[in-house]
Amino acid sequence: MDEGTKTIIDKLIKKHKPGENAVVSIFQDVQEQQGYLSEDAIRYVSEKLEIPVSRAFSVATFYSAFSLTPLGRNRVHVCLGTACHIKGADNIAGRISRQLKIKPGETTGDRKFSLHKVRCLGCCALAPVVKVNDDTYAGVSQDQVVSVLEKYR
Ligand code: FES
Repeated sequence: MDEGTKTIIDKLIKKHKPGENAVVSIFQDVQEQQGYLSEDAIRYVSEKLEIPVSRAFSVATFYSAFSLTPLGRNRVHVCLGTACHIKGADNIAGRISRQLKIKPGETTGDRKFSLHKVRCLGCCALAPVVKVNDDTYAGVSQDQVVSVLEKYR
């Protein structure tokens, strides 16, 4: 890990009070600043907080908000919950995968997009639903989703 990243993490560690939840708070800040939690960052935080590496990794993998791979600048969430599934969400997810040439959980090579499956976006009446960053697209068709994604290129 480069010195710049170590310095950033050292500052974040100082910012948080030691205790049970320190690792979660520090990981949240690292994720926000770096866009993901690298293996090196997780190991460094565990070393600095003097907690077992295995515990640090279990925290990092437990919370879905944490990503162990770099995320894209635009995060595409496709809902595959029951209401969206009934309205063809699987086909929409497939269309997005083909367009971006990535599977859910992956990031495009140019780091413009990452694709994520979610169980419910909390607006089932609008199914099928796709969210890009903070923008929600309701009742989208396979064709519409193509033009939606083009807006973020
Ligand atoms: S199931 Fe898709 S928004 Fe709830």
